[in-house]
Amino acid sequence: MADTLTITSDMIIHDVVTRHPETVKIFHGHGLPCTACAVGARESIAGGARTHRFTPEKQALLVKDLNAVVRGETTSVAPKKAPVGRGVPLSMAPAGKDGNIKQVIAIMSGKGGVGKSLVTGLLAVSLRRQGMRVGILDGDITGPSIARMFGTKGQPMKSASGGIDPLTSLGGIKVMSMNMFLEEESQPVVWRGPMISSAIKQFYSDVDWGRLDYLLVDLPPGTSDAPMTVLQSLPVDGIVIVSSPQLLATMVVKKCINMVQQLKGIIVGVVENMSYFETPGGERYEIFGASNGPELVDMTNAPLLAQLPIDSGLTTLCDAGRIEEYHSAAYEMLAENFINTLKIKR
Ligand SMILES: Nc1ncnc2c1ncn2[C@@H]1O[C@H](COP(=O)(O)OP(=O)(O)OP(=O)(O)O)[C@@H](O)[C@H]1O
Ligand SMILES: [Mg+2]
Repeated sequence: MADTLTITSDMIIHDVVTRHPETVKIFHGHGLPCTACAVGARESIAGGARTHRFTPEKQALLVKDLNAVVRGETTSVAPKKAPVGRGVPLSMAPAGKDGNIKQVIAIMSGKGGVGKSLVTGLLAVSLRRQGMRVGILDGDITGPSIARMFGTKGQPMKSASGGIDPLTSLGGIKVMSMNMFLEEESQPVVWRGPMISSAIKQFYSDVDWGRLDYLLVDLPPGTSDAPMTVLQSLPVDGIVIVSSPQLLATMVVKKCINMVQQLKGIIVGVVENMSYFETPGGERYEIFGASNGPELVDMTNAPLLAQLPIDSGLTTLCDAGRIEEYHSAAYEMLAENFINTLKIKR
């Protein structure tokens, strides 16, 4: 009997299609495209129906059909193939978890320039030094920076199994980035959302990552196509949020946290970058103001994994493609806390 109430109009469209992918075609059969747009991630069935000016009777019929398709019964409309869209992906089936990859971790912020890519790179370096097998998927398709940081040269080649081999850094970190496919590093990638989403999915599915303890996914700022694709189409085990003490940065980061929570992602930790500057004499200056770490910890219910200093030497190494030469106790501690939080055994 409980089955008659499997789907009700107050349920979020995203949740319904995630649990019952077969409902996507019914939504579309009823002319409701919300499964293919970002709205579906937060809107209820009733809300979607209202937006599309459904009468109460039409909404009731939609809900009836959604329940019918879940039970394998006949529906009043013919199921219709969903269009390619932004936000909730077509099949709603996340790319299958690659059995060789133990954990997929996305590094996000919402705010630009707070050090997501740098934290991704140095976290990878520190994890590698601790004996972990690490890969980095550069999810910033239009503004990639990972390949430059690691100084990887050349183009990825076809792998023995017909996929793509990632490039490997001097220290043994596997890297895949859009820049590797461009003739010149400065060549722009002028792509719209669906192409960006498809590139990210391919970087996960078509790349032969081999056996990895961690695949770190560096994301661009904002809460649009790339983060949505990663959170909804890749089997992400956890998200690390990067912020800086600046008030504005924290405000924008909160948007990102809200998005992750709406999409039911798991935030495994918060990193506060550019927390302070330390003089050679050991004096600390909080250049961007007092830490907002505790506030972010409150919001996310996740631990503050590290507070990282500003270090101009680091910027120089990154620009020169020599990030792996950097050593800092703060980053070793970040990796240590990260491993302990995710509890992968060495
Ligand atoms: N702690 C730090 N000390 C010194 N330089 C830093 C630090 N963190 C970041 N930077 C520098 O600041 C710049 C921005 O960092 P990064 O590219 O990692 O930010 P991002 O959040 O990934 O930016 P985007 O939003 O554009 O992707 C880079 O030049 C980087 O080297
Ligand atoms: Mg970046």
